[in-house]
Amino acid sequence: MTSGYVLSDEVLDHEINEPAFAKNSSYKAKKSLNDLDLFTKGQPVDFYKELRDNAPVYFHDPMPTDPEPGYWVLTRHEDIKHVSMNPKIFSSQYATGNMLTQGSEENRHPRLFKSTIDHMLNLDGEMHLGLRKEHMPFFKPGYVEDLQKKVTIKVGQLLDQIGPMGECNLVSEVSQQLPIYTLSEILGIPESDRQKLVTWMEFLELAQYFAVEQIKQQNEGVTDSSPDPEMINLFNAMVDEMFDYGKHILLKKRKNPENDLLSAIANAKIEGKELTQEFLDGSWLLIVFAGNDTTRNTMSGGIKLLHDNQDQKELLVNNPDYLPNFINETIRCVSPVIHMRRTSLEETEINGQRIGPYEKIALWYGAANRDPEIFKDPDRFNILRENADKHLAFGIGRHTCLGKPVALMQLKEFYSQFLARFPDFEMNGEWKVAPNNFVHAIQEMPIKFSPKS
Ligand code: HEM
Repeated sequence: MTSGYVLSDEVLDHEINEPAFAKNSSYKAKKSLNDLDLFTKGQPVDFYKELRDNAPVYFHDPMPTDPEPGYWVLTRHEDIKHVSMNPKIFSSQYATGNMLTQGSEENRHPRLFKSTIDHMLNLDGEMHLGLRKEHMPFFKPGYVEDLQKKVTIKVGQLLDQIGPMGECNLVSEVSQQLPIYTLSEILGIPESDRQKLVTWMEFLELAQYFAVEQIKQQNEGVTDSSPDPEMINLFNAMVDEMFDYGKHILLKKRKNPENDLLSAIANAKIEGKELTQEFLDGSWLLIVFAGNDTTRNTMSGGIKLLHDNQDQKELLVNNPDYLPNFINETIRCVSPVIHMRRTSLEETEINGQRIGPYEKIALWYGAANRDPEIFKDPDRFNILRENADKHLAFGIGRHTCLGKPVALMQLKEFYSQFLARFPDFEMNGEWKVAPNNFVHAIQEMPIKFSPKS
Protein backbone atom coordinates (compact mmCIF):
# COMPACT_ATOMS: atom_id res chain seq x y z
CA MET A 1 0.00 0.00 0.00
CA THR A 2 1.31 3.47 -0.92
CA SER A 3 2.07 5.73 2.02
CA GLY A 4 1.00 9.29 1.42
CA TYR A 5 -1.67 11.85 2.01
CA VAL A 6 -5.03 10.72 3.44
CA LEU A 7 -7.33 13.67 4.05
CA SER A 8 -10.09 11.62 5.69
CA ASP A 9 -7.75 10.69 8.55
CA GLU A 10 -7.36 14.31 9.56
CA VAL A 11 -10.74 15.95 8.94
CA LEU A 12 -12.47 14.23 11.84
CA ASP A 13 -10.13 15.96 14.26
CA HIS A 14 -11.12 19.36 12.94
CA GLU A 15 -13.46 21.37 15.08
CA ILE A 16 -16.57 22.99 13.69
CA ASN A 17 -17.89 25.91 15.70
CA GLU A 18 -21.30 27.24 16.65
CA PRO A 19 -21.81 30.81 15.34
CA ALA A 20 -19.36 33.11 17.11
CA PHE A 21 -21.43 36.23 16.43
CA ALA A 22 -25.07 37.22 16.89
CA LYS A 23 -27.35 36.41 13.97
CA ASN A 24 -28.43 39.44 11.95
CA SER A 25 -31.96 38.10 11.54
CA SER A 26 -34.28 36.59 14.16
CA TYR A 27 -36.29 34.82 11.43
CA LYS A 28 -36.89 31.13 12.15
CA ALA A 29 -37.83 28.97 9.14
CA LYS A 30 -40.82 26.64 9.47
CA LYS A 31 -39.45 24.24 6.86
CA SER A 32 -36.10 22.50 6.87
CA LEU A 33 -33.55 21.96 4.10
CA ASN A 34 -32.70 18.73 5.93
CA ASP A 35 -36.13 17.34 5.05
CA LEU A 36 -35.21 15.21 2.05
CA ASP A 37 -38.85 14.83 1.00
CA LEU A 38 -38.86 18.57 0.29
CA PHE A 39 -36.70 17.81 -2.75
CA THR A 40 -38.90 15.12 -4.31
CA LYS A 41 -41.04 17.67 -6.15
CA GLY A 42 -38.10 19.53 -7.66
CA GLN A 43 -36.08 22.30 -6.02
CA PRO A 44 -37.99 24.03 -3.17
CA VAL A 45 -37.85 27.42 -4.89
CA ASP A 46 -40.55 29.02 -2.70
CA PHE A 47 -38.60 28.11 0.42
CA TYR A 48 -35.39 29.46 -1.12
CA LYS A 49 -37.23 32.74 -1.77
CA GLU A 50 -38.47 32.87 1.81
CA LEU A 51 -34.94 32.36 3.09
CA ARG A 52 -33.45 34.89 0.69
CA ASP A 53 -36.09 37.51 1.59
CA ASN A 54 -35.91 36.98 5.38
CA ALA A 55 -32.36 35.89 6.13
CA PRO A 56 -30.05 35.59 3.10
CA VAL A 57 -27.33 34.30 5.43
CA TYR A 58 -29.37 31.94 7.62
CA PHE A 59 -28.09 29.63 10.36
CA HIS A 60 -29.72 26.23 9.86
CA ASP A 61 -30.07 23.24 12.22
CA PRO A 62 -27.68 20.35 11.51
CA MET A 63 -28.76 17.30 9.53
CA PRO A 64 -30.19 14.61 11.84
CA THR A 65 -27.16 12.45 11.00
CA ASP A 66 -24.72 15.13 12.02
CA PRO A 67 -22.91 15.31 15.36
CA GLU A 68 -21.56 18.77 14.43
CA PRO A 69 -23.26 22.19 14.83
CA GLY A 70 -25.52 23.52 12.06
CA TYR A 71 -24.55 25.46 8.96
CA TRP A 72 -24.99 28.84 7.33
CA VAL A 73 -27.28 28.73 4.31
CA LEU A 74 -26.49 31.13 1.46
CA THR A 75 -29.25 31.82 -1.05
CA ARG A 76 -28.02 34.98 -2.85
CA HIS A 77 -26.06 34.78 -6.11
CA GLU A 78 -23.57 37.44 -5.02
CA ASP A 79 -22.84 35.79 -1.66
CA ILE A 80 -22.27 32.35 -3.20
CA LYS A 81 -19.97 33.90 -5.78
CA HIS A 82 -18.05 35.77 -3.05
CA VAL A 83 -17.46 32.60 -1.02
CA SER A 84 -16.51 30.52 -4.08
CA MET A 85 -14.03 33.16 -5.27
CA ASN A 86 -12.20 33.43 -1.91
CA PRO A 87 -10.77 29.95 -1.24
CA LYS A 88 -8.17 31.26 1.21
CA ILE A 89 -10.94 32.29 3.61
CA PHE A 90 -13.52 29.67 2.65
CA SER A 91 -11.81 26.31 2.52
CA SER A 92 -12.89 23.19 0.67
CA GLN A 93 -10.33 21.10 2.54
CA TYR A 94 -10.83 21.94 6.20
CA ALA A 95 -13.40 19.38 7.38
CA THR A 96 -14.25 18.77 3.69
CA GLY A 97 -16.01 20.73 1.02
CA ASN A 98 -18.69 18.43 -0.27
CA MET A 99 -21.31 17.04 2.08
CA LEU A 100 -22.99 19.02 4.81
CA THR A 101 -22.47 16.18 7.20
CA GLN A 102 -20.21 13.26 7.94
CA GLY A 103 -22.79 11.54 10.14
CA SER A 104 -21.90 9.72 13.32
CA GLU A 105 -19.45 6.83 13.14
CA GLU A 106 -21.89 3.96 13.66
CA ASN A 107 -24.05 5.17 10.77
CA ARG A 108 -21.36 5.48 8.13
CA HIS A 109 -20.47 3.04 5.41
CA PRO A 110 -16.71 3.19 6.20
CA ARG A 111 -15.45 3.13 2.64
CA LEU A 112 -18.14 5.40 1.25
CA PHE A 113 -17.58 7.84 4.08
CA LYS A 114 -13.81 8.05 3.50
CA SER A 115 -14.23 8.29 -0.26
CA THR A 116 -16.58 11.26 -0.05
CA ILE A 117 -13.60 13.07 1.45
CA ASP A 118 -10.45 11.84 -0.32
CA HIS A 119 -10.67 13.57 -3.68
CA MET A 120 -9.82 16.86 -5.34
CA LEU A 121 -13.14 18.54 -4.65
CA ASN A 122 -12.01 18.61 -1.02
CA LEU A 123 -8.51 19.94 -1.55
CA ASP A 124 -7.24 23.52 -1.41
CA GLY A 125 -4.22 25.26 -2.92
CA GLU A 126 -1.41 23.47 -4.72
CA MET A 127 -2.59 19.94 -3.91
CA HIS A 128 -5.92 20.72 -5.58
CA LEU A 129 -4.36 22.38 -8.62
CA GLY A 130 -1.89 19.52 -9.09
CA LEU A 131 -4.58 16.85 -9.13
CA ARG A 132 -6.92 18.95 -11.27
CA LYS A 133 -4.11 19.39 -13.83
CA GLU A 134 -3.86 15.60 -14.27
CA HIS A 135 -7.53 15.52 -15.33
CA MET A 136 -7.31 18.51 -17.70
CA PRO A 137 -6.25 16.82 -20.98
CA PHE A 138 -9.55 14.90 -21.01
CA PHE A 139 -11.65 18.07 -20.93
CA LYS A 140 -9.79 20.20 -23.50
CA PRO A 141 -11.58 21.34 -26.71
CA GLY A 142 -9.69 18.99 -29.09
CA TYR A 143 -10.44 15.93 -26.93
CA VAL A 144 -14.09 16.93 -26.48
CA GLU A 145 -14.50 17.49 -30.25
CA ASP A 146 -13.29 13.94 -30.97
CA LEU A 147 -15.54 12.58 -28.24
CA GLN A 148 -18.50 14.44 -29.74
CA LYS A 149 -18.28 12.33 -32.92
CA LYS A 150 -18.80 9.17 -30.85
CA VAL A 151 -21.54 10.80 -28.75
CA THR A 152 -23.46 11.83 -31.91
CA ILE A 153 -23.55 8.19 -33.01
CA LYS A 154 -24.49 6.92 -29.55
CA VAL A 155 -27.42 9.36 -29.23
CA GLY A 156 -28.66 8.20 -32.64
CA GLN A 157 -28.53 4.56 -31.52
CA LEU A 158 -30.36 5.25 -28.25
CA LEU A 159 -33.10 7.16 -30.08
CA ASP A 160 -33.35 4.39 -32.72
CA GLN A 161 -34.15 2.01 -29.87
CA ILE A 162 -36.97 4.08 -28.36
CA GLY A 163 -38.36 5.28 -31.74
CA PRO A 164 -40.69 2.34 -32.46
CA MET A 165 -41.93 2.17 -28.83
CA GLY A 166 -43.95 5.40 -28.90
CA GLU A 167 -43.50 5.69 -25.14
CA CYS A 168 -40.77 5.01 -22.57
CA ASN A 169 -39.16 5.97 -19.27
CA LEU A 170 -36.63 8.43 -20.65
CA VAL A 171 -34.36 8.00 -17.61
CA SER A 172 -33.69 4.28 -18.01
CA GLU A 173 -33.68 4.29 -21.82
CA VAL A 174 -31.63 7.41 -22.55
CA SER A 175 -30.70 9.80 -19.70
CA GLN A 176 -28.91 7.08 -17.70
CA GLN A 177 -27.29 5.51 -20.74
CA LEU A 178 -25.67 8.45 -22.49
CA PRO A 179 -23.56 9.88 -19.61
CA ILE A 180 -22.41 6.36 -18.69
CA TYR A 181 -21.32 5.80 -22.27
CA THR A 182 -19.51 9.15 -22.51
CA LEU A 183 -17.82 8.84 -19.13
CA SER A 184 -16.74 5.27 -19.82
CA GLU A 185 -15.11 6.43 -23.06
CA ILE A 186 -13.18 9.11 -21.12
CA LEU A 187 -12.25 6.81 -18.26
CA GLY A 188 -11.38 3.78 -20.39
CA ILE A 189 -13.97 1.36 -18.95
CA PRO A 190 -14.59 -1.73 -21.13
CA GLU A 191 -18.03 -1.95 -22.73
CA SER A 192 -18.87 -5.19 -20.93
CA ASP A 193 -18.64 -3.45 -17.52
CA ARG A 194 -20.62 -0.29 -18.25
CA GLN A 195 -24.08 -1.42 -17.12
CA LYS A 196 -22.70 -2.01 -13.63
CA LEU A 197 -22.17 1.74 -13.35
CA VAL A 198 -25.88 2.33 -14.00
CA THR A 199 -26.83 0.14 -11.01
CA TRP A 200 -24.20 1.65 -8.70
CA MET A 201 -25.44 5.15 -9.52
CA GLU A 202 -29.00 4.25 -8.54
CA PHE A 203 -27.81 3.10 -5.12
CA LEU A 204 -25.52 6.09 -4.61
CA GLU A 205 -28.41 8.49 -5.19
CA LEU A 206 -30.16 6.80 -2.27
CA ALA A 207 -27.14 6.88 0.06
CA GLN A 208 -28.20 10.03 1.88
CA TYR A 209 -31.75 8.77 2.31
CA PHE A 210 -30.55 5.48 3.83
CA ALA A 211 -28.26 7.30 6.28
CA VAL A 212 -31.05 9.60 7.45
CA GLU A 213 -33.63 6.79 7.69
CA GLN A 214 -31.25 4.65 9.75
CA ILE A 215 -30.99 7.47 12.27
CA LYS A 216 -34.77 7.86 12.34
CA GLN A 217 -35.14 4.12 12.96
CA GLN A 218 -32.77 4.32 15.89
CA ASN A 219 -34.40 7.42 17.35
CA GLU A 220 -38.06 6.65 16.73
CA GLY A 221 -38.29 2.90 16.18
CA VAL A 222 -39.00 1.28 12.80
CA THR A 223 -41.69 2.97 10.72
CA ASP A 224 -43.47 1.71 7.62
CA SER A 225 -41.53 4.06 5.37
CA SER A 226 -38.11 2.99 6.68
CA PRO A 227 -35.96 1.01 4.24
CA ASP A 228 -35.93 -2.65 5.22
CA PRO A 229 -32.65 -4.23 6.45
CA GLU A 230 -32.40 -6.32 3.28
CA MET A 231 -32.39 -3.15 1.21
CA ILE A 232 -29.65 -1.69 3.38
CA ASN A 233 -27.59 -4.89 3.02
CA LEU A 234 -28.02 -4.73 -0.73
CA PHE A 235 -26.98 -1.08 -0.68
CA ASN A 236 -23.82 -1.93 1.29
CA ALA A 237 -23.01 -4.81 -1.07
CA MET A 238 -23.41 -2.57 -4.13
CA VAL A 239 -21.16 0.11 -2.65
CA ASP A 240 -18.49 -2.51 -1.87
CA GLU A 241 -18.76 -3.89 -5.39
CA MET A 242 -18.34 -0.42 -6.85
CA PHE A 243 -15.17 0.27 -4.84
CA ASP A 244 -13.72 -3.19 -5.52
CA TYR A 245 -14.18 -2.63 -9.22
CA GLY A 246 -12.60 0.85 -9.03
CA LYS A 247 -9.63 -0.48 -7.06
CA HIS A 248 -9.09 -3.32 -9.51
CA ILE A 249 -9.22 -1.19 -12.66
CA LEU A 250 -7.14 1.69 -11.23
CA LEU A 251 -4.35 -0.64 -10.07
CA LYS A 252 -4.44 -2.33 -13.47
CA LYS A 253 -4.07 1.05 -15.18
CA ARG A 254 -1.27 2.03 -12.79
CA LYS A 255 0.70 -0.99 -13.99
CA ASN A 256 -0.26 -0.72 -17.66
CA PRO A 257 -1.28 2.88 -18.42
CA GLU A 258 -3.38 3.64 -21.49
CA ASN A 259 -4.50 6.94 -22.98
CA ASP A 260 -7.49 7.45 -20.66
CA LEU A 261 -8.48 9.37 -17.54
CA LEU A 262 -8.30 6.39 -15.16
CA SER A 263 -4.66 5.87 -16.17
CA ALA A 264 -4.01 9.58 -15.50
CA ILE A 265 -5.65 9.34 -12.05
CA ALA A 266 -3.88 6.07 -11.23
CA ASN A 267 -0.51 7.66 -11.97
CA ALA A 268 -1.16 11.13 -10.52
CA LYS A 269 0.92 12.35 -7.58
CA ILE A 270 0.15 14.43 -4.48
CA GLU A 271 3.23 16.07 -2.94
CA GLY A 272 5.43 13.90 -5.15
CA LYS A 273 3.86 10.62 -4.00
CA GLU A 274 1.48 8.28 -5.79
CA LEU A 275 -2.14 8.54 -4.64
CA THR A 276 -2.98 6.42 -1.62
CA GLN A 277 -5.68 3.74 -1.91
CA GLU A 278 -8.01 6.16 -0.09
CA PHE A 279 -7.44 8.83 -2.76
CA LEU A 280 -7.86 6.28 -5.54
CA ASP A 281 -11.22 5.23 -4.02
CA GLY A 282 -12.25 8.86 -3.57
CA SER A 283 -11.22 9.96 -7.06
CA TRP A 284 -13.11 6.99 -8.49
CA LEU A 285 -16.25 7.92 -6.55
CA LEU A 286 -16.00 11.59 -7.51
CA ILE A 287 -15.57 11.06 -11.22
CA VAL A 288 -18.22 8.33 -11.49
CA PHE A 289 -20.76 10.37 -9.55
CA ALA A 290 -19.95 13.85 -10.88
CA GLY A 291 -19.69 12.68 -14.46
CA ASN A 292 -22.93 10.75 -14.57
CA ASP A 293 -25.57 12.01 -12.30
CA THR A 294 -25.44 15.69 -13.17
CA THR A 295 -25.81 15.41 -16.93
CA ARG A 296 -28.36 12.65 -16.63
CA ASN A 297 -30.63 14.73 -14.39
CA THR A 298 -30.27 17.82 -16.57
CA MET A 299 -31.36 15.79 -19.60
CA SER A 300 -34.53 14.59 -17.88
CA GLY A 301 -35.13 17.93 -16.14
CA GLY A 302 -35.06 19.82 -19.45
CA ILE A 303 -37.71 17.50 -20.86
CA LYS A 304 -40.01 18.33 -17.94
CA LEU A 305 -39.37 22.07 -18.37
CA LEU A 306 -40.31 21.83 -22.06
CA HIS A 307 -43.40 19.79 -21.28
CA ASP A 308 -44.53 22.32 -18.65
CA ASN A 309 -43.82 25.31 -20.94
CA GLN A 310 -45.35 24.44 -24.30
CA ASP A 311 -44.77 27.94 -25.74
CA GLN A 312 -41.02 27.56 -25.10
CA LYS A 313 -41.03 24.08 -26.57
CA GLU A 314 -42.67 25.32 -29.78
CA LEU A 315 -40.19 28.21 -29.97
CA LEU A 316 -37.25 25.82 -29.63
CA VAL A 317 -38.55 23.19 -32.04
CA ASN A 318 -39.02 25.92 -34.68
CA ASN A 319 -35.68 27.61 -33.91
CA PRO A 320 -32.93 25.05 -33.24
CA ASP A 321 -30.44 27.98 -33.11
CA TYR A 322 -31.77 28.74 -29.65
CA LEU A 323 -30.43 25.42 -28.39
CA PRO A 324 -27.26 26.72 -26.61
CA ASN A 325 -29.26 29.33 -24.68
CA PHE A 326 -32.01 26.80 -23.95
CA ILE A 327 -29.33 24.54 -22.43
CA ASN A 328 -28.04 27.33 -20.17
CA GLU A 329 -31.57 28.19 -19.10
CA THR A 330 -32.30 24.50 -18.43
CA ILE A 331 -29.18 24.11 -16.28
CA ARG A 332 -30.11 27.32 -14.41
CA CYS A 333 -33.60 26.01 -13.63
CA VAL A 334 -32.65 22.39 -12.89
CA SER A 335 -29.41 23.11 -10.91
CA PRO A 336 -28.62 19.39 -10.66
CA VAL A 337 -26.00 19.88 -7.92
CA ILE A 338 -28.12 21.31 -5.13
CA HIS A 339 -25.40 22.50 -2.78
CA MET A 340 -21.68 22.47 -1.98
CA ARG A 341 -20.03 23.31 1.29
CA ARG A 342 -17.11 25.40 2.52
CA THR A 343 -15.64 26.12 6.00
CA SER A 344 -14.50 29.57 7.13
CA LEU A 345 -10.83 29.63 8.20
CA GLU A 346 -10.88 33.05 9.86
CA GLU A 347 -13.22 35.70 11.14
CA THR A 348 -15.02 37.21 8.17
CA GLU A 349 -18.29 38.71 6.92
CA ILE A 350 -20.84 37.60 4.35
CA ASN A 351 -23.44 40.17 3.29
CA GLY A 352 -23.16 41.97 6.66
CA GLN A 353 -23.30 38.79 8.79
CA ARG A 354 -20.19 38.29 10.93
CA ILE A 355 -18.91 34.72 10.78
CA GLY A 356 -16.27 33.24 13.07
CA PRO A 357 -13.51 30.79 12.18
CA TYR A 358 -14.42 27.15 11.45
CA GLU A 359 -18.11 27.61 10.76
CA LYS A 360 -19.87 25.61 8.04
CA ILE A 361 -21.26 27.39 5.00
CA ALA A 362 -23.50 25.76 2.39
CA LEU A 363 -23.88 27.25 -1.08
CA TRP A 364 -27.40 26.55 -2.41
CA TYR A 365 -26.89 26.82 -6.16
CA GLY A 366 -30.57 26.36 -7.02
CA ALA A 367 -31.38 29.39 -4.85
CA ALA A 368 -28.60 31.56 -6.40
CA ASN A 369 -29.94 30.63 -9.81
CA ARG A 370 -33.37 32.06 -8.92
CA ASP A 371 -32.06 35.27 -7.36
CA PRO A 372 -34.21 38.13 -8.77
CA GLU A 373 -31.29 40.55 -8.34
CA ILE A 374 -29.59 38.71 -11.21
CA PHE A 375 -32.40 36.96 -13.08
CA LYS A 376 -35.51 38.98 -13.92
CA ASP A 377 -38.71 37.01 -13.30
CA PRO A 378 -36.50 34.12 -12.07
CA ASP A 379 -39.15 31.40 -11.84
CA ARG A 380 -40.02 31.79 -15.52
CA PHE A 381 -38.41 29.30 -17.88
CA ASN A 382 -37.36 31.58 -20.74
CA ILE A 383 -35.11 30.11 -23.44
CA LEU A 384 -34.39 33.64 -24.72
CA ARG A 385 -33.19 34.91 -21.31
CA GLU A 386 -30.23 37.15 -22.09
CA ASN A 387 -28.11 36.26 -19.07
CA ALA A 388 -29.03 32.57 -18.69
CA ASP A 389 -25.31 31.74 -18.74
CA LYS A 390 -24.77 33.69 -15.49
CA HIS A 391 -26.07 30.73 -13.50
CA LEU A 392 -23.80 29.18 -10.86
CA ALA A 393 -24.86 25.56 -11.40
CA PHE A 394 -21.29 24.57 -12.37
CA GLY A 395 -19.87 26.48 -9.40
CA ILE A 396 -17.38 29.30 -9.93
CA GLY A 397 -13.73 29.86 -9.03
CA ARG A 398 -11.02 27.23 -8.53
CA HIS A 399 -13.33 24.25 -8.23
CA THR A 400 -15.55 25.20 -11.20
CA CYS A 401 -16.84 22.03 -12.75
CA LEU A 402 -14.13 20.38 -14.79
CA GLY A 403 -16.66 18.42 -16.84
CA LYS A 404 -18.60 21.47 -18.05
CA PRO A 405 -17.52 21.19 -21.74
CA VAL A 406 -18.36 17.48 -21.76
CA ALA A 407 -21.75 18.11 -20.14
CA LEU A 408 -22.66 20.90 -22.60
CA MET A 409 -21.58 18.79 -25.57
CA GLN A 410 -23.74 15.83 -24.49
CA LEU A 411 -26.76 18.01 -23.76
CA LYS A 412 -26.51 19.65 -27.19
CA GLU A 413 -26.26 16.30 -28.98
CA PHE A 414 -29.14 14.83 -27.01
CA TYR A 415 -31.63 17.69 -27.31
CA SER A 416 -30.88 18.48 -30.97
CA GLN A 417 -31.47 14.90 -32.09
CA PHE A 418 -34.35 14.22 -29.68
CA LEU A 419 -36.35 17.32 -30.65
CA ALA A 420 -35.73 16.77 -34.37
CA ARG A 421 -37.12 13.21 -34.11
CA PHE A 422 -39.82 13.55 -31.47
CA PRO A 423 -41.08 17.16 -31.61
CA ASP A 424 -44.53 16.09 -30.39
CA PHE A 425 -43.29 14.37 -27.20
CA GLU A 426 -45.31 14.80 -24.00
CA MET A 427 -44.96 13.55 -20.46
CA ASN A 428 -47.03 10.43 -19.97
CA GLY A 429 -47.40 10.26 -16.19
CA GLU A 430 -45.72 11.60 -13.07
CA TRP A 431 -41.97 12.02 -12.72
CA LYS A 432 -40.20 10.52 -9.70
CA VAL A 433 -37.39 12.33 -7.87
CA ALA A 434 -35.26 10.65 -5.14
CA PRO A 435 -35.26 12.12 -1.60
CA ASN A 436 -31.88 13.83 -1.76
CA ASN A 437 -30.75 17.39 -0.96
CA PHE A 438 -27.32 17.06 -2.57
CA VAL A 439 -28.26 16.12 -6.13
CA HIS A 440 -31.54 16.59 -7.97
CA ALA A 441 -31.98 12.90 -8.80
CA ILE A 442 -34.75 12.24 -11.33
CA GLN A 443 -35.48 8.51 -11.32
CA GLU A 444 -38.47 8.28 -13.66
CA MET A 445 -39.57 10.44 -16.58
CA PRO A 446 -42.40 8.76 -18.53
CA ILE A 447 -42.88 10.20 -22.03
CA LYS A 448 -44.90 9.41 -25.17
CA PHE A 449 -44.39 10.48 -28.79
CA SER A 450 -45.37 9.51 -32.35
CA PRO A 451 -43.57 6.21 -33.01
CA LYS A 452 -40.79 6.26 -35.62
CA SER A 453 -39.29 3.10 -37.07
C1 HEM B 1 -24.84 19.65 -16.00
C2 HEM B 1 -23.80 18.95 -15.60
C3 HEM B 1 -22.90 19.28 -14.43
C4 HEM B 1 -23.08 20.16 -13.38
C5 HEM B 1 -24.26 21.08 -13.12
C6 HEM B 1 -21.90 20.06 -12.53
C7 HEM B 1 -21.69 20.81 -11.37
C8 HEM B 1 -20.54 20.81 -10.61
C9 HEM B 1 -20.32 21.59 -9.43
C10 HEM B 1 -21.35 22.50 -8.77
C11 HEM B 1 -19.05 21.36 -8.99
C12 HEM B 1 -18.38 21.91 -7.72
C13 HEM B 1 -18.01 23.36 -7.83
C14 HEM B 1 -17.46 23.93 -6.56
O1 HEM B 1 -17.34 23.25 -5.52
O2 HEM B 1 -17.12 25.12 -6.58
C15 HEM B 1 -18.46 20.41 -9.91
C16 HEM B 1 -17.17 19.92 -9.81
C17 HEM B 1 -16.68 18.91 -10.61
N1 HEM B 1 -17.29 18.32 -11.69
FE1 HEM B 1 -19.12 18.79 -12.42
N2 HEM B 1 -21.05 19.13 -13.06
C18 HEM B 1 -21.61 18.63 -14.23
C19 HEM B 1 -21.05 17.67 -15.07
C20 HEM B 1 -19.83 17.08 -14.90
C21 HEM B 1 -19.26 16.09 -15.78
C22 HEM B 1 -19.93 15.56 -17.06
C23 HEM B 1 -18.04 15.74 -15.26
C24 HEM B 1 -17.03 14.74 -15.74
C25 HEM B 1 -17.10 14.07 -16.88
C26 HEM B 1 -17.84 16.54 -14.06
C27 HEM B 1 -16.73 16.49 -13.24
C28 HEM B 1 -16.47 17.33 -12.18
C29 HEM B 1 -15.25 17.31 -11.40
C30 HEM B 1 -14.07 16.36 -11.61
C31 HEM B 1 -15.38 18.30 -10.42
C32 HEM B 1 -14.33 18.68 -9.36
C33 HEM B 1 -13.56 19.92 -9.81
C34 HEM B 1 -12.58 20.45 -8.78
O3 HEM B 1 -12.70 20.18 -7.60
O4 HEM B 1 -11.65 21.16 -9.20
N3 HEM B 1 -18.95 17.32 -13.87
N4 HEM B 1 -19.38 20.09 -10.89
